[in-house]
Parts: sequence; C-alpha cells; structure tokens
Amino acid sequence: MAKVISVTNQKGGVGKTTTAVNLAYYLAKFGKKTLLIDFDPQGNATSGLGIDKQDLQLTMADVAMETATLDQVVIPTAYNNFFLAPTTPVLANTEVQLAQADRRFSRLKNAIEASKVDYDVIVIDSPPSLSLLTVNGLVATNYVLLPVQAEFYALEGLGQLLETMKLVRKGMNPTLELLGVLPTMMDSRTTLSGQVHEEIKKHFPGKVFNAVIPRNIRLAEAPSHGLPIGAYDRFSKGARAYKAFTKEVISRVSIG
Ligand SMILES: Nc1ncnc2c1ncn2[C@@H]1O[C@H](COP(=O)(O)OP(=O)(O)OP(=O)(O)O)[C@@H](O)[C@H]1O
Ligand SMILES: [Mg+2]
Repeated sequence: MAKVISVTNQKGGVGKTTTAVNLAYYLAKFGKKTLLIDFDPQGNATSGLGIDKQDLQLTMADVAMETATLDQVVIPTAYNNFFLAPTTPVLANTEVQLAQADRRFSRLKNAIEASKVDYDVIVIDSPPSLSLLTVNGLVATNYVLLPVQAEFYALEGLGQLLETMKLVRKGMNPTLELLGVLPTMMDSRTTLSGQVHEEIKKHFPGKVFNAVIPRNIRLAEAPSHGLPIGAYDRFSKGARAYKAFTKEVISRVSIG
C-alpha cells in the first residue's frame, strides 16, 4: 500500500505547492514510484510542472465527481517514477456540487483505494482552506505534512487545522498522523526568522524537520519554467534543502 502524505495548511502562500512538487520530484529521483495529486482548484502544481490545463481531457474534478477513476486521469511527467493527477479550476465547481452529495468526505480516499497502480508514495497538494477538498485530503491520508512560513503570524490559525485533524481522527480516519512541520521561506539574515523557528519548535516539540527551506529566488522562478527545482537549478540552496528534506521524509515514513 502506498504511503499517503497530504501537504496541508489552510493559510495561503506558505509553500504547500512548492513543497508538494519538489518532495514528489525528489522521492521519484530516489527511486520511489510517486504520484502527486493536485487537489487545489488553483492547479498550481499542475501548471508548475509545465502542464497546459487546456490540453487536459480528464482531471481530479472528474475523480471527485466519480465520472473517472484516478488511474484514468493520471499522466506521466517528464521524470522517471513521477506521475501527476492534474487539476483545473473546474474543481472549484465540483466542490460546490459535492456539498450535499453522498460520501462527500471520502471521494479521494475511495479513488486512491480503487487505484490498480502500486505507488510507493502519494503526495496530495491541498488548497488554502479547511474546505471539503482539504478534508477529503485528510480522510485519504496517513500523514499530514505542515509547511509553516517563517513569519510573525506563522502559528495563527494552526489550532483550527489541528482541531479539524482531531475531528477527522475521531470520525473517519483514526490513524491520521502529523508527519512533521517544515519551516519554509526562512531568511537566515533576519532575527525574526530565527525567533519564529524557535517558536515553531516550542509549539511542535519533536515534530519539526531538521531541514529548513530557505527563501530562495530559484524556488520561485522554477514553476514559471514548468520545472521542479531539481530540474531547474539542482545546485541552488532551495534544491539542496528540498533534497535533504525528502531524505528525512523517507526515513520518517519508511517508504518502499
Ligand atoms: N522557499 C521559497 N523561497 C522563495 N519563494 C518561495 C519559496 N517557497 C515558495 N515560494 C513562492 O511563494 C509563493 C507561494 O508558494 P506556494 O505556491 O508554494 O504556496 P502555497 O501554500 O501552495 O500557496 P496557496 O495557499 O495559494 O496554494 C509562490 O510564488 C512560490 O513560488
Ligand atoms: Mg498551493
């Protein structure tokens, strides 16, 4: 069975998609058969991998509506072992349609369980909200990976996410676990970044990854070229940080 990791934080712009894409890339690079599921209607993971949304016949919106299977929507990427289940903004309408539907919280879980492909890991990129789509991610997941941006308001609102995780654990997914907290966009030159890092460690004892993702312009440029950082500039600080982080994930989760 694939290990499923959901990259979640309801706060916008904290590095979820950057983390999901580059984690998936390096997992694949390390030989793990990896599926990245883009479950955010913004479709940033899809476009960040250079996929033109206009060309897509089937997407995660079809999977959520149960008009296609996950295996039908998955496409290969330019990289060995790395597969993508793409999305388009249509997924936002789907979410509205699902609001009253049966099994609305377990659409993603059911789709993953019905897949006939043996992935080692499935990484889910979630939207910046505690919406139906995010809850689908939490229900389908073994592990939550929480990227936290090193800024003053970093910890605000995280209580709500932890509360939602508790509810999901009680109801639909008793083994849901916090895999770890990843500090992102760290600026080592500012004392604020350092202070926030300390705060995060205090708040999540034992859960913060040793790897820290620096603020690095190459990470911000890569998606505009449709490339993961490892393909865009593998010697950049951002690439090295995501590679080291991926090794930590592999050892924490014991994948493959
Ligand atoms: N370490 C970093 N250094 C510099 N820029 C970064 C870094 N990580 C992410 N970015 C940039 O910051 C922006 C937000 O990152 P990203 O899209 O990964 O966040 P997100 O949490 O997925 O956002 P959303 O909540 O909208 O889905 C993007 O433009 C991205 O390229
Ligand atoms: Mg995103």
